[in-house]
Amino acid sequence: MNENISAILYDECTIQRKISELGEQLSVDYEDKKPVMISVLKGSVVFLADLIRACTINMTVDFISLSSYGNKTESSGSVSLEKVFNTDLSDRHVIIVEDIIDTGLSLSYLLKYLDRFKPASIALCVLLDKVDARKIEVKIDYKGFEIENEFVVGYGLDYAERFRNLPYIGILKEEVYK
Ligand code: IMP
Ligand code: MG
Repeated sequence: MNENISAILYDECTIQRKISELGEQLSVDYEDKKPVMISVLKGSVVFLADLIRACTINMTVDFISLSSYGNKTESSGSVSLEKVFNTDLSDRHVIIVEDIIDTGLSLSYLLKYLDRFKPASIALCVLLDKVDARKIEVKIDYKGFEIENEFVVGYGLDYAERFRNLPYIGILKEEVYK
């Protein structure tokens, strides 16, 4: 295990099992709907890469970039949009793919933003949910795991751009960021 990690929350097998379930469910719910999966950069790219391979349906993929954290471990409370996808979303079924929901500010901002493009529907697929950290209510349609209020890294999630490459999801030692 990496020396900066105090505990592994979910190992590779556990993550893959959960993603298979999510992929099966999405494949049933979106059969013949040709959804567009929008991955929120950069944290969710690892999740997206595994999730699309667990889906058996016709779909497209695009990316968007939001930022609210900088190099800190707590949300700054203000969200900004950094990059815009180029898919025409009108009348498309959109699935937002996100690594983690914390305060909910990023996703509620993104939902409002995407609504302007008049998609047929928007659903949220989130790997990790810090349930107790929510400041704004957001409806999550597909969820991997609910976690405690701890700072986690790995499987795409970073601290100051580090640790995205860990194959598991682990709790970052406090001494790394305190
Ligand atoms: P929210 O707007 O507070 O819901 O923040 C969501 C974003 O914060 C996620 O997309 C992550 O980029 C980041 N984030 C929140 N908690 C963690 C964590 O424990 N580890 C790594 N990134 C996190
Ligand atoms: Mg993110």
